[in-house]
Amino acid sequence: MLLLQELICILLISLAHGVHDSCPIMFDPPDVVVEFGASFSVNCSSTNVTHQFGLSWEGPDDTMENTEEIIRSVDKVTDWEMNKTCFMYSNETKCSQDLPITIYKTPDNVSISFVNHSGPMIEGNQYELKCDIQNVAPVQDLTVKWYKGQTLLDQTTFNDTSKTPVNETATLLITADRADDGAQYRCEAELDLGDGPQIPIISSEPLSFEVHYKPKHSNLTVFIIKNNEVMLNCTVKANPTPTYTWHSEHLKEKSSSSVLPSSTLSPGNYTCTTENSVGRDSKVFIVSDSECPVQIIPQRAVVEYGSSVAVDCRALIPHDGMAWEADEGGTEKTSANVTTWNVSNLREWEIKPYCYINYIKIANTPPCEVQLPVTVYKTPDNVSISFVNHRGPMIEGKQYELQCDVQDVAPVQNLTVKWYKGQTLLNQTTYTDTIKTPVNETATLLITADRADDGAQYRCEAELDLGAEGPQPLPKRTSEPFSITVYYAPEIQSCNSWSPLKGTSLDSLHLNVYSVVGNPHPNISWSLNSSPVNSSRNLTENDSGQYKITATNVLNVSSCFINIKVQYPPELKCNESYKVKENTLFQFPCTANGLPKPELSLYKNGKVIQHEFFKPSWNDSGLYQLITRNQHGTVNSTFTVNILHAPVFYSSQENFVVGENSNITLECSSSGNPEPEMWWSFKNKNISTGRRHITFNIGRATSTNAGNYTCVATNEFGRRVKSFVVEIRDDSSNYILFVVLILLVLLILFIIVVIFLRRRNKLRGRYEIQSAKQYEMRPLSNGGPE
Ligand SMILES: *[C@@H]1O[C@H](CO)[C@@H](O)[C@H](O)[C@H]1NC(C)=O
Ligand SMILES: *[C@@H]1O[C@H](CO)[C@@H](O)[C@H](O)[C@H]1NC(C)=O
Ligand SMILES: *[C@@H]1O[C@H](CO)[C@@H](O)[C@H](O)[C@H]1NC(C)=O
Ligand SMILES: *[C@@H]1O[C@H](CO)[C@@H](O)[C@H](O)[C@H]1NC(C)=O
Ligand SMILES: *[C@@H]1O[C@H](CO)[C@@H](O)[C@H](O)[C@H]1NC(C)=O
Ligand SMILES: *[C@@H]1O[C@H](CO)[C@@H](O)[C@H](O)[C@H]1NC(C)=O
Ligand SMILES: *[C@@H]1O[C@H](CO)[C@@H](O)[C@H](O)[C@H]1NC(C)=O
Ligand SMILES: *[C@@H]1O[C@H](CO)[C@@H](O)[C@H](O)[C@H]1NC(C)=O
Ligand SMILES: *[C@@H]1O[C@H](CO)[C@@H](O)[C@H](O)[C@H]1NC(C)=O
Ligand SMILES: *[C@@H]1O[C@H](CO)[C@@H](O)[C@H](O)[C@H]1NC(C)=O
Ligand SMILES: *[C@@H]1O[C@H](CO)[C@@H](O)[C@H](O)[C@H]1NC(C)=O
Ligand SMILES: *[C@@H]1O[C@H](CO)[C@@H](O)[C@H](O)[C@H]1NC(C)=O
Repeated sequence: MLLLQELICILLISLAHGVHDSCPIMFDPPDVVVEFGASFSVNCSSTNVTHQFGLSWEGPDDTMENTEEIIRSVDKVTDWEMNKTCFMYSNETKCSQDLPITIYKTPDNVSISFVNHSGPMIEGNQYELKCDIQNVAPVQDLTVKWYKGQTLLDQTTFNDTSKTPVNETATLLITADRADDGAQYRCEAELDLGDGPQIPIISSEPLSFEVHYKPKHSNLTVFIIKNNEVMLNCTVKANPTPTYTWHSEHLKEKSSSSVLPSSTLSPGNYTCTTENSVGRDSKVFIVSDSECPVQIIPQRAVVEYGSSVAVDCRALIPHDGMAWEADEGGTEKTSANVTTWNVSNLREWEIKPYCYINYIKIANTPPCEVQLPVTVYKTPDNVSISFVNHRGPMIEGKQYELQCDVQDVAPVQNLTVKWYKGQTLLNQTTYTDTIKTPVNETATLLITADRADDGAQYRCEAELDLGAEGPQPLPKRTSEPFSITVYYAPEIQSCNSWSPLKGTSLDSLHLNVYSVVGNPHPNISWSLNSSPVNSSRNLTENDSGQYKITATNVLNVSSCFINIKVQYPPELKCNESYKVKENTLFQFPCTANGLPKPELSLYKNGKVIQHEFFKPSWNDSGLYQLITRNQHGTVNSTFTVNILHAPVFYSSQENFVVGENSNITLECSSSGNPEPEMWWSFKNKNISTGRRHITFNIGRATSTNAGNYTCVATNEFGRRVKSFVVEIRDDSSNYILFVVLILLVLLILFIIVVIFLRRRNKLRGRYEIQSAKQYEMRPLSNGGPE
């Protein structure tokens, strides 16, 4: 029975106290956590007082007190392994319960340090950190926590069950990282004793890290649009501080700065090499003027409607893909460096292709795409000229409007319509309309009809100037030539007097001189003294006069008077021969006509004779030639001139001194026209007659023959007489005279010889003696008729 009660009791107690404890003892506090050396007190009580009758801290002996609660106090905990047990005794149970006691000690020191290392770390290498905790208990409740700054990195716990203080070391493996440079690491020792007292956490002094790492650029290539503010900033973090070296064909000076200012930049590539003791890295800056690192080739497309086009888009920097976007001819995104927009038959008037590229940009650059300007053109189907509200010929002085129709041309803003007269550009029209599809356009030209334009050819030319990328030569289309006719009233330009050559007709006046104008060409009529004249008849020298000329066409009539003088070549009328009296003023024997008045020249034997005051002498008979000339011709005439004159004697010996018995011949010759009659007379007796040449012979002269003989010549113009003297000499006187003459001659010869010899000695020269002159026979001067 008792055993059963006890069993039930135990069962009940165990039910009341929980699964672990069959002993209905309760501690207050339930467990003891106490620092080594500190004091504590604890109550022990039974959980079911009704059945208890003994509690003791010492053991199940007489110290048991019949009380509900016993207190135990410890002044100073000195035993690390101190045990306290509370005993209980009742009629239902007899049991004991150990008091759970935890004795702790915060560490004396916590410190952090490297294992086998000192100085800066190198990025990427592994290092071991350790945390030393001195004198801590109980180690099983110890947690070591690793912190970088405020960040918990790791924590370590210990399996050691030792209750006494120990020295512990926790370790941490780390890989050095650039982010750790300058970071502070520390470790904390924490005793986690459950619900017990708050135990201060002991932290190590922080450990500052120094990590050496090489420069590393985040973007290896960047594209920069050059403007005034842009600069190349290669600055990068590295430890130790790196050095910078720039390379570019555009850099004039070496630079070791991390930054290149805008002023030193021009489009191109700039490579910056950054280096320190750990390593090096490079960065390429591509500086460009354009906003997008692609090149469009050609930059502008000019395409004829319906023809093909191909334009390249070329990447200037490494990229992640590029493509053309277009309604026609777009391309797939490609990683190649070039992509081509290609359309074989462009039939889209307003196409706007653009090329885009995905590339590494520096901050704030806009999305990158480049539009290709495309001009689609079409030459006109037809270009034609017409009048506005007019037909037929134009009238001089009036204004007319011409219109040029250009059909189906695009783009009209590039169209120029040019007006030409012949090869002369008159005017041109351009258009500002921005429509891109084909249109019909009209250009007009105001012209004032002018006679000079009669028969002129106008044309208009539609030309498309599509700029430098456009086709060369410029595509153009020209209208058919448009001939115009200008009517104008007749005008007689010149009414000056006219001097036509004989044989000219009146009709030839306006033909030669263009003196009558008008369109249509006027009809010309002539009249003289109000009666019409046949203008085709040849004019004679008698037709000079004041003529009226009248010009008529559909527009008007014009007339004026013209003084006409008919010119003709010289005419000459001469006889075959003329008789002229000597010493009379000579008149031209012939009449010479002509207009203009001809000039006359008289020739004899090829020599000009001063003809105005020509007074012929007795011997000027002969063959004469008269020449007369004006601008229309020369006429000559040859005739004989016979000079009528009184007789003239020729010279002959007139004085005869002869000895007796000599023979003498007296000679007398004369000329005269008509031929004179001649005779000899001696002592008033006619002794002989004849003509031209008469002689008289005296044979065996005697003194009776001495005396004056007379020769007489006569005709109708005069009578001439010539005397001859005949003397008969005494012979004795002749002999003395002969001797004296011989002596005289010898003396002269002697003198000449002496002079000659002397001179020769002086000058030693040579001289010739000139022979005596010969004398011609001439007619004797003649005193004229007596
Ligand atoms: C213990 O004592 C109580 C009261 O005194 C009593 O009621 C109970 O029966 C006893 N238990 C046993 C097993 O005797
Ligand atoms: C004490 O024990 C009795 C009998 O065993 C039980 O009835 C009672 O509930 C217990 N009281 C406590 C507080 O456990
Ligand atoms: C406390 O109890 C444990 C085991 O129960 C024992 O090993 C130890 O020696 C005891 N300590 C003392 C001081 O009696
Ligand atoms: C502690 O014990 C656990 C399991 O028993 C074991 O896995 C761990 O390695 C031990 N720790 C140390 C520091 O001995
Ligand atoms: C712990 O280390 C300290 C200092 O090195 C030493 O004085 C002490 O004896 C050590 N304690 C233990 C339990 O080894
Ligand atoms: C390049 O650098 C910029 C800022 O400097 C950054 O936003 C971007 O992500 C970087 N690109 C790469 C691929 O590193
Ligand atoms: C260059 O860039 C660095 C950081 O990348 C910055 O600190 C520095 O101020 C820049 N230099 C200039 C001149 O802007
Ligand atoms: C500039 O750099 C780009 C990309 O690296 C390269 O394609 C290009 O040829 C370079 N240009 C020059 C002029 O070096
Ligand atoms: C693009 O050009 C760069 C040099 O400018 C060259 O290195 C690269 O191979 C080219 N890429 C392709 C896909 O052709
Ligand atoms: C022709 O048109 C293009 C645009 O299509 C324009 O850029 C260019 O200036 C034009 N040329 C002329 C001469 O108007
Ligand atoms: C040329 O044409 C324009 C209008 O198209 C006009 O204003 C201008 O007077 C013309 N010039 C001449 C010389 O006709
Ligand atoms: C231009 O004129 C032609 C002929 O008159 C006509 O067929 C065409 O439709 C016109 N085009 C436009 C754009 O008006």
